[in-house]
Amino acid sequence: MTTESATDGARPLVSLERGEIDRRIFSDPDIFEEEMRHIFGRSWLFLCHGSQIPKRGDFFEAPMGRDNVLVVRQRDGGIKALLNTCAHRGNAVCRAEEGNAKNFMCTYHGWTYDIAGKLVGVPGLDELYHNDLDVSANGLREVAQLEVYKGFVFATLDPQAPPLLEFLGRTGITGLEFLAGQGELEVVPGIQKFVIPCNWKFAVDNIFDWYHPQITHLSAFQTGLAGSADVRGTKMKTAGVAGPDGSEIQLPGGVASGAASDQMVFIDAFGHAISGPTVEALGDSGGRIDHSWRDSPEARGNLGPMARRSAGHASIFPTCWITLLSNQISLRVPRGPMETEIWWFTFVPKQAPPERKTAIAQGAIHSFGPAGFLEQEDGENWAQSTLQTRGNASAKIPQLLQMNLRRGKVVHDSDGLDPPYIECSINEHGQLWTFASWVHWLSGCGWPELRERTAPPDVI
Ligand code: FES
Ligand SMILES: [Fe+2]
Repeated sequence: MTTESATDGARPLVSLERGEIDRRIFSDPDIFEEEMRHIFGRSWLFLCHGSQIPKRGDFFEAPMGRDNVLVVRQRDGGIKALLNTCAHRGNAVCRAEEGNAKNFMCTYHGWTYDIAGKLVGVPGLDELYHNDLDVSANGLREVAQLEVYKGFVFATLDPQAPPLLEFLGRTGITGLEFLAGQGELEVVPGIQKFVIPCNWKFAVDNIFDWYHPQITHLSAFQTGLAGSADVRGTKMKTAGVAGPDGSEIQLPGGVASGAASDQMVFIDAFGHAISGPTVEALGDSGGRIDHSWRDSPEARGNLGPMARRSAGHASIFPTCWITLLSNQISLRVPRGPMETEIWWFTFVPKQAPPERKTAIAQGAIHSFGPAGFLEQEDGENWAQSTLQTRGNASAKIPQLLQMNLRRGKVVHDSDGLDPPYIECSINEHGQLWTFASWVHWLSGCGWPELRERTAPPDVI
């Protein structure tokens, strides 16, 4: 189904002007197929961090749409990403999610590949194939392009895709710098993975949603197990939300106190966005968040003054979420129109004392992932929202993203390091920008046209 034929008469799938979305984009199987082809078959995607595969032969399996790739450390210290599918009959050549290998032997007929993907063993090559098999042409296939930005490994299946830095733009780079700026990083062993019965775009939409915590996460913050009220807190007041003792609770993302610019939004080409509180509004969550790197000479060289003020949630289109609140990267991996696998990578500064590393890991586990209070609460909403796109009558109701609509004045810092930005209170600009860009990706247009169509406007 093309974007055009997916429209219902005059109704577009996404209206940037009206702030409306056609609900069918959250469960239509034909649209999901188009996403696999035009988005996940082309976009740069985050695979893993270099610290996860430090030694020769170390590997980590990562998803690229429905393809699975083995990200493998090579003999020369470089990194390759190989499609995990045997050249013979297609079986996966590696069943482990991560580990160390000298080679990969397919469990079906025993074809064996070295860590560079070269086919080095074929049972019966002499007697059965009569040496008439083109061994050199039947290695594991590589991704089209792979690049590493400060340890963050990305790849694309599209040879035409622009270089990684061009794709990321200032917004994507700013998001990665929220983590990289802290110094040399390592990933806490054990990537958390679990499935939520929802469309992947609900999970992406929520990255920017600072409107829901005061309701959705009320119980998590009341227990204190997801952190005390100020863990993700901004200095905004909630509207009459009472704690167990009757006193007002301060919750993150609560109804704004009237401060007009305690939130910042960045929007950029290809659909990247950052949205959330400023550093001043967020604070340091009782010392859990280290903002000191923001004033370092390196940060000043890499980031503009507005970007260094942002403590928002960064989304690298389509599915990579960077949150400095728990020092994590999450992938919202689509497994089907109504099924999303959530992955969590937790980062700690390599030189940090053990107690700080433990504190970061514990904070992350209590917030997100299968044991995280916040994500259990979020997941319920996303699952229900996805289900309600299936009703014959319900599907016809447009979904709304109208908060602060057409009031978001975009400042273009064309000479500096800052991405296009908006200063405002809580809003729905980040979500709307994601969907407005998504529809252009789905059109299948070429890269130059995609960049042009997703150039940030002056007002959103
Ligand atoms: S499918 Fe891999 S050896 Fe046959
Ligand atoms: Fe949430």
